[in-house]
Amino acid sequence: MQNKFLGLTPPMGWNSWNTFTHAINEDLIKETADAMASSGLKDAGYEYVVIDDCWSLRQRDQDGFLVPDPEKFPHGMKAVADYVHEKGLKFGMYSCDGTHTCAGYPGSFEHEFQDAATFAAWGVDYLKYDNCYKPRHMDGEMLYKRMSLALRNCGRDILFSACNWGSDDVWSWIQGSGAQLFRSTGDIQDSWESIKNLALSQMDKMAYSGPFCHNDIDMLVVGMHGGSNNEFIGSVKGGCTDEEYRTHFSLWAMMNSPLMIGCDIRKMSEYTKETLCNPDLIAINQDIECRGPYVVPGHDPAALMALVKPMSDGSLAIGLFNLGDRKAEMSLQFWDMGIPAAAGVGLEMYDCWAHQTEGTFTERYAAQIEPHGCRVFRAKLVKVR
Ligand code: GAL
Repeated sequence: MQNKFLGLTPPMGWNSWNTFTHAINEDLIKETADAMASSGLKDAGYEYVVIDDCWSLRQRDQDGFLVPDPEKFPHGMKAVADYVHEKGLKFGMYSCDGTHTCAGYPGSFEHEFQDAATFAAWGVDYLKYDNCYKPRHMDGEMLYKRMSLALRNCGRDILFSACNWGSDDVWSWIQGSGAQLFRSTGDIQDSWESIKNLALSQMDKMAYSGPFCHNDIDMLVVGMHGGSNNEFIGSVKGGCTDEEYRTHFSLWAMMNSPLMIGCDIRKMSEYTKETLCNPDLIAINQDIECRGPYVVPGHDPAALMALVKPMSDGSLAIGLFNLGDRKAEMSLQFWDMGIPAAAGVGLEMYDCWAHQTEGTFTERYAAQIEPHGCRVFRAKLVKVR
């Protein structure tokens, strides 16, 4: 690899799956790249435009090469990649470690090195690699290692986003594979229950995530409001409230998940844009040390969860999450975070959604949190006496 910083912090971008599934084409990808560049998302740090499943023909060509569907991508993939690159963005694609992708298109099994070369020739910068139709005699760990090696030797920097949904104890071997991401969960749905369950499922895995190899809790549903064309993802359920999407974004940011947008950014509301572009949350997510947060004891996390993440400048990112269905008071005792009362140190609490300092507190902080709501702070240690 040329770029020694590839995947140092969690990638940020957009992926076609959550909203569009099979209904993808060249115009959509170009318009999305336009929107990313013109809307402020690019300036906020979003850079990858990723095409998920359903982009190819159902068969490889006679020499075994993958073929883009000429109806969806009449000018081929290189043309799309060039367009995305001209916008100052990066281009991502999708394949699978099995014989077929999850939607039944050709997978990269036994074609790993050939496909890596194809992706490099097209100008791909990011590869999401799924786990469907893996032959039973094959070990998933080995298949991810294969593709990772193929990508690391294809002559182009391609970020490797492994997507095996947390199976095969992925956290225990993924570092050694060389992948920059590992999907740790099943597919997200555009519902509060799904957001809550995915976040809770990874609380005991935060220690396995770190620089260059991040726990991927799945793509964001922020701003979708039921806009998927896929029933499972949630078009029939109507999605979430804007407040719930903010809590979702806060959780993903605090948990160092990649921030891959799943809504139609050509049509997002101002509120959605503000949520996705919150610079204080993005700074927490992109902190260079990528330390996973810990859960502060004292509450039942399934209802009230306090997360603390040490930041590289010595401050603490603190998230108070009310995952329950009733308004509740949450309190944080500072000695639970390593600040004894005798130290003469307080916390200057900067509210990352209100974008203002709430004040300096000693020994404890307490706040009322709305159901499915949250407060996120950047807390600076200050001398109080
Ligand atoms: C799933 C994957 C989704 C999406 C889909 C495409 O396995 O988790 O994120 O990529 O396949 O078929």
